[in-house]
Amino acid sequence: MSLKCFLTALAATSSAFFAIPVMAEDRLKCGEASYFASEYTCHNDKTLCPTVFGLPTKPCGGSGSGGCYPPQQYSCSEEDGILRDLPEASSPFTLSVWGVRKAYQNQKIKACGGYLAFGANARQCHLCTAAGGKNCASFKNETVFLPDGRMNAAVPGGQYWYVHPSEGLLQYTAALDPPKNTSTSSWNVTAAEIPRKEFAGVNVKVHENGFFVWDKEGSSSHWWFACLVTLPGGVISTGRSWRLYAPLTPDLKDCDLVRVVATAVDKSNGVYKYS
Ligand SMILES: *[C@@H]1O[C@H](CO)[C@@H](O)[C@H](O)[C@H]1NC(C)=O
Ligand SMILES: *[C@@H]1O[C@H](CO)[C@@H](O)[C@H](O)[C@H]1NC(C)=O
Ligand SMILES: *[C@@H]1O[C@H](CO)[C@@H](O)[C@H](O)[C@H]1NC(C)=O
Repeated sequence: MSLKCFLTALAATSSAFFAIPVMAEDRLKCGEASYFASEYTCHNDKTLCPTVFGLPTKPCGGSGSGGCYPPQQYSCSEEDGILRDLPEASSPFTLSVWGVRKAYQNQKIKACGGYLAFGANARQCHLCTAAGGKNCASFKNETVFLPDGRMNAAVPGGQYWYVHPSEGLLQYTAALDPPKNTSTSSWNVTAAEIPRKEFAGVNVKVHENGFFVWDKEGSSSHWWFACLVTLPGGVISTGRSWRLYAPLTPDLKDCDLVRVVATAVDKSNGVYKYS
């Protein structure tokens, strides 16, 4: 596929012409049909499958008669052309955002200051201290999630991802501080009260190498809202990033629908502590 830029001349006033650049995309052939590669994928020169939210779909069944499916949701049995739900995730995973806008295509979700966000200004905030005898160099410092609602952090007591039950915002819990009096206690993390730990992973279903889905009883949804926010201390129009909301609150502003996809990664990609 090639993209061609050419100029379209538009008559503006009686005497002046302005040249406006227009991006044009070549039409490709799939059997007898023509299509744009930005919108469809051609399989075996006969089946066109649409790209949905930046994610190509695939045909199921040898003839393609079974229609097209998102491989982040189903697996297809080539023998009988039957779609089956992907299993629930059992591996540690990273999360990426996909959407119609270029800014939403394969954007990694990062953890910073209790929020999970994406975009050029979203930061990955991690910290490693010698507490717990950890070798900091053994962490790859990616934002890695575990299917049971934990963040992949090694800090005693752990950290947890959750959807705020009333606001719908995707967040994670803070790490506990070590006890002040280290001469006495071992750090009793089992007894620790971590605020909002009780919401960890609640109402979210994660497919192995597939969609990260809001799955509250009676309202399952592939959609999340990506909402542009100014980061704390930032000036409007600078330092903005997108936060993610479950489709709970319909009156969100500056938001777009996106999909969130989990990708299985090695557990060693995580961090000691998300700060
Ligand atoms: C991860 O971050 C820690 C400090 O928090 C640093 O010591 C370590 O080298 C980093 N690991 C990598 C792979 O960059
Ligand atoms: C730490 O705990 C020990 C034993 O309970 C106690 O004697 C000591 O005063 C404590 N120190 C501080 C700074 O609280
Ligand atoms: C840690 O907390 C648990 C649960 O509250 C308690 O049963 C246990 O005795 C505590 N252990 C220590 C060493 O304080």
